[in-house]
Amino acid sequence: MKMYNRKLERGELEGRLSKAGQSHLLQFWDEISGQEQEELMLDLADMDFKEVGSFFQKAMETSDSIRQEKVDSRMGPVPREVLGSVTRDRECLRDWEKEGLRCIAQNKVAVLLLAGGQGTRLGVSYPKGMYDVGLPSHKTLFQIQAERILKLERLAKQQYNAKCCIPWYIMTSGRTMESTEEFFSRHNFFGLDKDNVIFFQQGMLPAMDFSGKIILEDKGKLSMAPDGNGGLYRALGTQKIIDDMEKRGISYIHVYCVDNILVKVADPTFIGFCVLKGADCGAKVVEKTNPTEAVGVVCKVDGCYQVVEYSEITLETAQRRSPDGRLMFNAGNVANHFFSLPFLRDIVNIHEPKLHHHVAQKKIPYVDTQGQIIKPDKPNGIKMEKFVFDIFQFAKTFVVYEVLREDEFSPLKNADSQDGKDNPTTARHALMSLHHRWVLNAGGHFIDENGTRVPAIPRSGPAGSVTPDATRNLKDGTDLPIKCEISPLVSYGGEGLDVLVRGREFRPTLVIDETGIHELVKNGL
Ligand code: UD1
Repeated sequence: MKMYNRKLERGELEGRLSKAGQSHLLQFWDEISGQEQEELMLDLADMDFKEVGSFFQKAMETSDSIRQEKVDSRMGPVPREVLGSVTRDRECLRDWEKEGLRCIAQNKVAVLLLAGGQGTRLGVSYPKGMYDVGLPSHKTLFQIQAERILKLERLAKQQYNAKCCIPWYIMTSGRTMESTEEFFSRHNFFGLDKDNVIFFQQGMLPAMDFSGKIILEDKGKLSMAPDGNGGLYRALGTQKIIDDMEKRGISYIHVYCVDNILVKVADPTFIGFCVLKGADCGAKVVEKTNPTEAVGVVCKVDGCYQVVEYSEITLETAQRRSPDGRLMFNAGNVANHFFSLPFLRDIVNIHEPKLHHHVAQKKIPYVDTQGQIIKPDKPNGIKMEKFVFDIFQFAKTFVVYEVLREDEFSPLKNADSQDGKDNPTTARHALMSLHHRWVLNAGGHFIDENGTRVPAIPRSGPAGSVTPDATRNLKDGTDLPIKCEISPLVSYGGEGLDVLVRGREFRPTLVIDETGIHELVKNGL
């Protein structure tokens, strides 16, 4: 660690703090250890108080005006002409996929994972990507994503006879960097070439009280948090990631969030759709069917594309319906975005600095003037964040791609609880239920412990495929899926399973991986 001449530095720092109205940050200086002094000094030395102050001011002004004038009246739905859909455009899917795979084979596609969040709602102390939701294989989210990348590289190679790679950029934060890198290295990068897995770090911002004072979470520690997943754009510039992409000849980037167990990393169909539409920016969505579901909606605000978060509209607007009975604002954001590299470069160089932070009022633990740590029971300050979709407004050609929720979206947000949503159990069930359907669609069958075939009760799936009631339990009819897991190294999206399963009967738990087909006698889930 860098050593400081504390006396000298402290005097200088006191001057800076006093000018910035933040002198309270040194109030416990004489009570904290040398090590703590050193660390506090480092954090403060790094901070641009002028910039932080102006972020605060602008964020508060914007949030005040938003509060006064709800965004609802300025919203309009996504027009049909920018929309592609896996259900309504079935005849185009093959061409889109082919184009996407062609771009991958030409080494033009990179993926970028947003993994700087703190996973507060899930309540774990390590990065969310390291979470094991309890699949038969016990693979973590990171491993599942890594294997999907590997499989796509192989598929592209097979189809185009060219060895290719999909670089994986992973954005971490001060909170997740070290453990994420260590995890990848301990797992040998899950079989990927480590030169093609590029970690970089987003910025951090202090939490502030309502008067703009930075909050101390302990006597010698500032309350700091990552600057939101839109911190991506600043980091792409400061960490020279755009330069790296250019050097590698990348043209298209698929950006996604860490927590969706069904995420189709570098989805060739989505990429092909965006490329063939000449888009510089695209968003994947699922149909929002429940007005209170906690997803943002892609829409137009004052004629510009934007995501309006679930917390930013009134229930009345969320409940509005079109004449066909569907929700009017139903383009549920699954946090999967497509960008062309020139668009990203312009964002970083021109537009990013103009974006304001969103303000979230929070209950932020703080140390009071007596040195006691207080956990407030009502919001006492704000955190400032930029959002990854704040830049949609700058797109020249924006497109939206609608996919099926049961095939592509099951986020892990919360810890398990009874009747809970978006938790490890729902994520595990969603993956197993998808893989169960893959087996059925490829002509395989499941039998129960008496050897009786489990009927696949088809629902009228819009894709015309078998969509069984995946929540039946073989044993007692309770709310459990058939236990089935297929390694991404065997199948990326359900392809290639016919030769393995057609006409065969399986007893759950069924696991298909590179070593073969396994029926695990003991259901350990
Ligand atoms: C996000 C979307 C929301 C969407 C939902 C779908 C944003 C701002 N909101 O909401 O519109 O409907 O996912 O699941 O994208 N992250 C960082 N750095 C940060 C904060 C977050 O990298 O400073 C990453 C997280 O690691 C995660 C992703 O961003 O991968 C999403 O963050 P999260 O806070 O879970 O967003 P949601 O509120 O769930």
